[in-house]
Amino acid sequence: MNQTLFRMTMAFAASVGLSITGAAQANSNPSTSAGDTEKAAFIDNLISEMNLEEKFGQLTQAPGAWNDTGPAVPETGSDDIRDGKIGSFLSVYGAEVTHEMQRIAVEESRLGIPLLFAHDVIHGFRTIFPVPLAESASWDPEAAEKSSRVAAIEATAHGVHWTYAPMVDVTREPRWGRVVEGAGEDPYLGSVMAAARVRGFQGDDMTATDTILACAKHFAAYGGAEGGRDYNTVDISERTLREVYLPPFKAAAAAGVATFMAAFNDINGVPSHANPFLYREVLRGEWDWDGLVVSDYTGIWELMDHGVAATREDAGVMALEAGVDVDMLSKIYEELPAAVRSGRLDETVVDAAVRRVLELKYDLGLFDDPYRYSDVEREKANTLTPEFRQTAREVAHESMVLLKNDRKTLPLSKDLQSLAIIGPLADDPHSCLGNWAAAGRPEDAITVLEGIREAMPETEIHYAQGCHVSDHDTSGFEQAVEAARAADAVVLVLGEHRDMSAEAKSRSSLNLPGVQRELAEAVLGTGKPIVVVLMNGRPLSIPWLDENIPAILEAWFLGVETGPAVADVLFGDVNPSGKLPITFPRNVGQVPIYYNHRNTGRPADPDDMYTSKYIDAPWTPLYPFGYGLSYTEFSYSGLQLSSEVIGPDDSLEVQVELTNAGERPGTEVVQLYIQDLVGSTARPVRELRRFERVPLEPGESKVLTFTLQPEDLACLDRNLQPTVEPGDFKVYVGGSSVATLSAPFTVQSANNP
Ligand code: GLC
Repeated sequence: MNQTLFRMTMAFAASVGLSITGAAQANSNPSTSAGDTEKAAFIDNLISEMNLEEKFGQLTQAPGAWNDTGPAVPETGSDDIRDGKIGSFLSVYGAEVTHEMQRIAVEESRLGIPLLFAHDVIHGFRTIFPVPLAESASWDPEAAEKSSRVAAIEATAHGVHWTYAPMVDVTREPRWGRVVEGAGEDPYLGSVMAAARVRGFQGDDMTATDTILACAKHFAAYGGAEGGRDYNTVDISERTLREVYLPPFKAAAAAGVATFMAAFNDINGVPSHANPFLYREVLRGEWDWDGLVVSDYTGIWELMDHGVAATREDAGVMALEAGVDVDMLSKIYEELPAAVRSGRLDETVVDAAVRRVLELKYDLGLFDDPYRYSDVEREKANTLTPEFRQTAREVAHESMVLLKNDRKTLPLSKDLQSLAIIGPLADDPHSCLGNWAAAGRPEDAITVLEGIREAMPETEIHYAQGCHVSDHDTSGFEQAVEAARAADAVVLVLGEHRDMSAEAKSRSSLNLPGVQRELAEAVLGTGKPIVVVLMNGRPLSIPWLDENIPAILEAWFLGVETGPAVADVLFGDVNPSGKLPITFPRNVGQVPIYYNHRNTGRPADPDDMYTSKYIDAPWTPLYPFGYGLSYTEFSYSGLQLSSEVIGPDDSLEVQVELTNAGERPGTEVVQLYIQDLVGSTARPVRELRRFERVPLEPGESKVLTFTLQPEDLACLDRNLQPTVEPGDFKVYVGGSSVATLSAPFTVQSANNP
């Protein structure tokens, strides 16, 4: 095969003293101007050699081919690779498969440009971690960084360069199936978790073979879908867009995320795939971010369904000009050379997008060694290792939220002679993994039943499924009641199947599906001590369980170590410390219901009919944002502020003493909220601004100090400009968003010291 132009380019680079060693060279020296110059010269030279078809080839992503064992080298796709028509692939992994596909690209195409391989590594690759909503319940950014780090090590060992994560969509919509993929309802918690996950995935050296390109998605406001119906219209003010939905994306950009992904939805009638306000004005302008934007699936093609593009060419030109660099799967960009030749599309717009693709490949070191991520030995050594599993178990511990524990029903005694494990999710390995489980396998997952059996080898276990997750067959109730009667206590595992959340899985109800509540009622009728373990991908409305079941543990979908982690908590080896990252409504009629709401002119008052509430249900949630119990008790005291009056440029120190007043070691997530009592616009009644996980021994106390900076007190004024507005504020500190411990302070105006 004649020497490819790629190798000639390498020769050119060498001849002019350019060493193509990726970002390592570029970033190894603080004054990276030399590295940047080399990189720019190499890429400029390569672009100058490319014809239009090859340029749009770099902007085209194709689906990987699969056979019954997993990803495979594509048949037709290989010819497209040879013809330079594809720059990257989705859902391709495996050292051997990626090596062969890379070989075809580098050895058998005219330019020999290496491919990028992407995959949805959302909460683990083969070692599956708790789903992101669960992990966010840990309020532990270090845990999120650790799980993302393991995912990056495992995925890159399998040849993956790029993950489509973290999903950073804030949502107040529990009906929306994709609530499971994010960090819940709060912009601040969402921002902290977004940055942590980016750090975990990308590390601090993109040329390292165990770091992976991350992708902040879905830009933007996808979680605002009307009715919680996936892909639906989002109609929000620019204020809400900027105050609620954009902050986690800004945090991801500030953390150096390499790529963004567009969203399927429109915002106020403008589809996100054709929205230059998002990409050119906000992302690349205001935030000064210059990474690569990829479409979501067929999002470019869908501009025609949105009704803003009449033809495929209209859709392609609109998206590229708006700032969407790579066409994931619409196969429209490959048709755009005609638009350039006709003068409709400026080739400089194309070159800018091509440059971003080539820069990523350069930064990964692929021009230096295209096969560096395709190593069979590294793949074997980094798959589902005991260390990875242990990390998954530790993250799972922190993800669980104790919702109720009357009469210290939990932890259960390890001396129990017999135990009934009942419910449709008690032995469901698929649901343990949750959705978006990448290369995860059900046989890797340890179910709740298996975990309890392992933890309690001397205890007689009586298992009964009782019913299915979502049908109405009650024929299993009898066996379940018998199992309960034969045991000293009951663990009832209820919730949703993993396929009831994630993409295209919106629900119109938040109730326990099927006849699960009836099963709980039947088992409760035996009079045995009973605890419920919930496995679900969204907030559930469970008022009956809350009223009738003495202990309820929210376990979400915890990944491969579900069983051991749940058993560790149920029998007291681990004290639960999770806090809800999203409000649990009493019923779906309350939705949207979230903690950081405005006060209104008629805030709810039970003694005044003419105030904002319902006549048929309380206006308060079942469980509020930030809520979670412990096997011990924590008390707060000594809330002090460094000053009661500050200037608009001053910081404020907040001090509080936390005590473990119980008999067990435990970790409390201390939360700090502010309230701006009077602003140029009505401000939320609370806004999370700081939190910290604090482990304490029984009887131990600790004084915590938080420092609020002016930007923590700022809001968007009437002109949507960030401003610290003078006036009265309050600080609240406690273990949830309904904490009452508070202290007032005033911000003086600059000209009134
Ligand atoms: C999907 C999802 C997106 C995912 C992509 C690739 O439609 O919206 O989150 O990364 O396709 O699988």
